[in-house]
Amino acid sequence: MLFVPFCGNHKPVAGFLDQIEPLKQAALAEFAAAADLAALEQARVSYLGSHGKFTALMKHLGSLPKEEKPAAGKAINCVKAELETAMVGRRSELELRAALPAEPTDFTMPGRRRVLGKLHPLTQVTEDIVRSFRKIGFAVADGPEVEDEYHCFDALNTPADHPARDTQDTFYIADGSADAGMSAGLAGAQPLLRTHTSSVQIRVMEKQAPPVRIIVPGRVYRRDNADATHNPTFQQVEGLYVDRNVTVGDLKGTVEFVFRELMGPETRIRFRPHYFSYTEPSFEIDFSSALTRKMGKEWLEIAGCGMVHPQVFQNVGYEPEDWTGWAFGFGIERIAMIRYGINDIRLLYENDLRFLEQF
Ligand code: DAH
Repeated sequence: MLFVPFCGNHKPVAGFLDQIEPLKQAALAEFAAAADLAALEQARVSYLGSHGKFTALMKHLGSLPKEEKPAAGKAINCVKAELETAMVGRRSELELRAALPAEPTDFTMPGRRRVLGKLHPLTQVTEDIVRSFRKIGFAVADGPEVEDEYHCFDALNTPADHPARDTQDTFYIADGSADAGMSAGLAGAQPLLRTHTSSVQIRVMEKQAPPVRIIVPGRVYRRDNADATHNPTFQQVEGLYVDRNVTVGDLKGTVEFVFRELMGPETRIRFRPHYFSYTEPSFEIDFSSALTRKMGKEWLEIAGCGMVHPQVFQNVGYEPEDWTGWAFGFGIERIAMIRYGINDIRLLYENDLRFLEQF
């Protein structure tokens, strides 16, 4: 609804006033007929612009006889206001129309679904492991994937001629000249991709005084050919607990707590004697649950662990007489595969959405 100024009944000023009315009607008609903003602007300029028809009439006002001027001036100002109001009104109509979609909205159309992403199953398992350890006071530590031989092997009581090295062959990083390390007599100076997260035990203890209570999730590398259960890259979680009077009982209780959280409350844990050069005594951990029975086995091997070897403490400057500790390491892929019934490790790296959407 347009507000139209009431212009009253002005006494006709012969001639001049006669011209106002038809001009006003013509302008109003053009404003109303303007189909879009550009057309309306054109109409505005042609009447109200500085060279417009209505403006021309106003300029004419000055040449009227003195006694006619007041009535004529009042009339023309009033009509001008009327035209401007009409023009502004039409403009907001056209602006509103321009803002509306060209096509009418179809309210019967189905809504657009938002596709939500998901965490990768390995990430889900890692987060669950971290969450369980956080509950019992462990912090997450991190270390480099490109390691040196010292942190990956020597400091962990695994010298160059140790047979354990054969089972953990890895990839060495060229440092520009293919055999620079060797020819300089610096065998071992060449960086390598870490074969296990155990190297982070050393890095953390070098930096921090005991007690230590950490877990280390991370990527590791081995010179393995890919098959259903091996991949040259995989992920591990390392655990390290150092304090006074730490026992195998603490180790077993901790492992049992975490595996019950991960694999179900009726999960059982079994330790078998084993050998690792950085722990003494060492064990392999088997577990048993509904999941292992589903795979046709009572016990499945899941992790390695043991009490930190005194030599390792010595290597990082901890006094072995004062401090005791345990460590463990296990593969995250293996946990995920058992938990979700995945029969080929390579599925975890192919990023096939048909596979990933199932978790
Ligand atoms: N580093 C071992 C591996 O990659 C796993 C392991 C065994 C870690 C015993 C430990 C440990 O911390 O105490 O197979």
